[in-house]
Amino acid sequence: MTFARITGTGSDLPEKVLTNADIEAMVDTSDQWIRERTGIRQRHIVAPEEATSDLAERAARCALEAADRRVGDIDLIIVATTTPDRVFPSTACLLQQRLGIHGCAAFDIQAVCTGFVYALGVADKFIRCGSARCALVIGAETMSRIIDWTDRSTCVLFGDGAGAVVLEASDEPGVHSSHLHADGHYAHLLHVPRGSSTAPDDVGAVRTFVEMKGNEVFRVATNTLGRIVDETLAANNLNKSDIDWLVPHQANIRIIEATARKLKMSLDNVIITVDRHGNTSAASVPLALDQGVRDGRIKRGDMLLLEAFGGGFTWGSALVTY
Ligand code: ACO
Repeated sequence: MTFARITGTGSDLPEKVLTNADIEAMVDTSDQWIRERTGIRQRHIVAPEEATSDLAERAARCALEAADRRVGDIDLIIVATTTPDRVFPSTACLLQQRLGIHGCAAFDIQAVCTGFVYALGVADKFIRCGSARCALVIGAETMSRIIDWTDRSTCVLFGDGAGAVVLEASDEPGVHSSHLHADGHYAHLLHVPRGSSTAPDDVGAVRTFVEMKGNEVFRVATNTLGRIVDETLAANNLNKSDIDWLVPHQANIRIIEATARKLKMSLDNVIITVDRHGNTSAASVPLALDQGVRDGRIKRGDMLLLEAFGGGFTWGSALVTY
């Protein structure tokens, strides 16, 4: 039987750091409010000339190096992003060109903050059924480009970044299972209200930004993530104590703490980056994973629970032996 294993991780963060003190100078907020309600202290923001594909390329090269693979080994590229460089071609195709390879399947996945978990689930299925042997799976975002920097209810939350994994065919797991869900009835609670097909004629003049009913999203996210923990454990016949590391989507420290409580897990076994990265949407789970691997906390053979919740609503999890 063929499984899909993570053989390397990588990430990239833009150089510029925007602290809560910087945001205090922009909107009516305070470092204390942001820290107490979200756990965020700072976030990284792209330079004017940087695009999502720049972050994706750097994270991808970093993951390839960790996996000891060359770009020529890659036979599938999936980029999870809500903030593609262009309407088309996909960021995955732009990345393929930048990596100097051609011919393999390359496409984007749009599941907002759950994007990386969706991409991992899809790549796992490609590998299990023999359609790919060495996939690049990336979450990359420039959320700062779709944020209204005068709206204090959203601008304090988001940041930019990218995370990547190389996923390879193996005789041993690997990804044990992935669980992907969506419920479009909640679209209005968290969205960017216009896109290419709903924009007015003077689209060039109109900018459109993330809008969110924060506390309603918070309530659904907390309950839903609790349920997906149960679903993932039951599907694999595992107990809470079998999980070594929780690698959660980094939207809000209070949501992360609620999921850890559900798992009866100490925060010492949770990879937390929200304080330094903010919410990087599809990039947050692979960024946290790479952080845990590089600082030596996550070791080969550890059992990881990856989970995320985001616009759509979408939500998902993956159980992975690293
Ligand atoms: N600074 C100071 N005050 C603020 C700020 C701010 N930045 N933002 C809002 N407030 C005020 C509000 O105006 C409100 O004031 P009022 O009581 O006078 O009306 C008060 O703070 C409370 O606002 P709430 O929205 O109820 O605050 P809450 O405790 O819910 O925290 C937050 C808001 C942090 C957004 C939280 O609801 C949250 O994290 N929600 C979930 C976000 C999430 O998980 N999103 C999913 C992923 S994102 C994606 O998919 C793109």
